[in-house]
Amino acid sequence: MEMVFSFAKLKLFSPRGLSLGNGIIKDHCKIWIFHSINGLVAIGSLTSFILAMAYAYLYLFPSSRPVIRSYGISNSTGSIEKCNLFQGKWIPDENYPLYNASDCPFAERGFNCFANGRRDRGYSKWRWKPKDCDIPRFNVQAVLEKLRGKRVVFVGDSLSRTQWESLICILMTGVDDKKSVYEVNKNKITKQIRFLGVKFSSFDLRIDFYRSIFLVQPGPAPPRAPKRVKTTLRLDVLDDISKEWIDSDILIFNSGHWWTPSKLFELGWYFQVDKSLKLGMPINTAFRKALNTWASWVEKKINTNRTSVFFRTFEASHWSSRSRKTCKVTRRPWFSTRGKERSPISDTIINVVRKMSVPVTVLHVTRMGAFRIDAHVGTWSDNPSVKDCSHWCLPGVPDMWNEILLSYLMLPNLVSSNEQ
Ligand SMILES: *[C@@H]1O[C@H](CO)[C@@H](O)[C@H](O)[C@H]1NC(C)=O
Ligand SMILES: *[C@@H]1O[C@H](CO)[C@@H](O)[C@H](O)[C@H]1NC(C)=O
Ligand SMILES: *[C@@H]1O[C@H](CO)[C@@H](O)[C@H](O)[C@H]1NC(C)=O
Repeated sequence: MEMVFSFAKLKLFSPRGLSLGNGIIKDHCKIWIFHSINGLVAIGSLTSFILAMAYAYLYLFPSSRPVIRSYGISNSTGSIEKCNLFQGKWIPDENYPLYNASDCPFAERGFNCFANGRRDRGYSKWRWKPKDCDIPRFNVQAVLEKLRGKRVVFVGDSLSRTQWESLICILMTGVDDKKSVYEVNKNKITKQIRFLGVKFSSFDLRIDFYRSIFLVQPGPAPPRAPKRVKTTLRLDVLDDISKEWIDSDILIFNSGHWWTPSKLFELGWYFQVDKSLKLGMPINTAFRKALNTWASWVEKKINTNRTSVFFRTFEASHWSSRSRKTCKVTRRPWFSTRGKERSPISDTIINVVRKMSVPVTVLHVTRMGAFRIDAHVGTWSDNPSVKDCSHWCLPGVPDMWNEILLSYLMLPNLVSSNEQ
């Protein structure tokens, strides 16, 4: 009996491009050809053959790049089902929150809603439950060991800083000597600061944050530009601090909240490509151009054999008006997403990443955030006179982004899929 199976562009289930752990297979776009069933029997059991078949069948995506990684779950019959982590719902869980922000020097006061007078606690006791699986509760010691000697870098706006703070606070629960965790320049966390680097000295672990709200480089208005142009955003040039992001093991980007008319045009910021000013360029077009600049930079500069690259999608906000001045933070999450599960920013991110020639994983958090009108800082911030329905309380929603990130780092059985 002669059987030939040929799987073009088979995506395996191992964590592609993850540099954590030893001996992980680099398996992007492999072609497997099994020439005879005899050979197969010789090299493995029938079970592994069935498993390979199931993986191959489920994860055969011949035309476009997978950008959202799912879990592969083997069920009682030995079949593999896949689970998209970003499809699901929030369920109450008394085991949360994961830490007390008042005990974590890296949770900034502005996000510590409890310390700022929020008295209901329900918002910190929800767990994200993907439809077809659970995100495994991680073991903080195991995570710290896995991250030993590594450098994790967050790049983006204040939502990136929140995720950076959340990760540090989560990991600090596993460190006895809190003094062994410190900011390398003894800097305090402020809103404008360009760089913050926290060292976990017992683990030789660095967790850094770079503020780069647009990812591309701002510059002065070119000569003879109209008066209203105060600053230009050079869509074809990546932020000049980007060279500091290269030497990293895990690199997590975001951008989105600043790409609005009120934060650009109304402040005199306009777009520039090469030497020419693009006064009429729509924001969505500009965002796509900036992301393409970012994508080429990753392809050129990042060794994805070492560095795992992530891009987080738009973090849903819950303003009640376009002017972003009013909003109401509720006690409970919404039961549905009310249209907030989609965002043009997220769509652009997914489309750009999908066309890249190196593996980048999208953390597609838009949908999970959409339910969480209860979890914003509201008036429990460092400036209670201004409502805030963009940022999140800590502990809270950003912890879940990190749990998903950590599960990607810890689990061997990840697969890729194109679902959104
Ligand atoms: C196991 O997975 C297969 C393939 O997805 C499915 O058809 C089957 O119903 C599952 N079995 C159980 C017990 O869940
Ligand atoms: C956090 O710890 C502080 C003391 O360190 C305590 O006063 C506060 O009640 C705790 N917060 C929560 C939400 O348990
Ligand atoms: C990454 O690994 C692949 C496969 O092992 C190898 O072909 C490639 O040259 C490596 N790239 C770099 C930049 O080291």
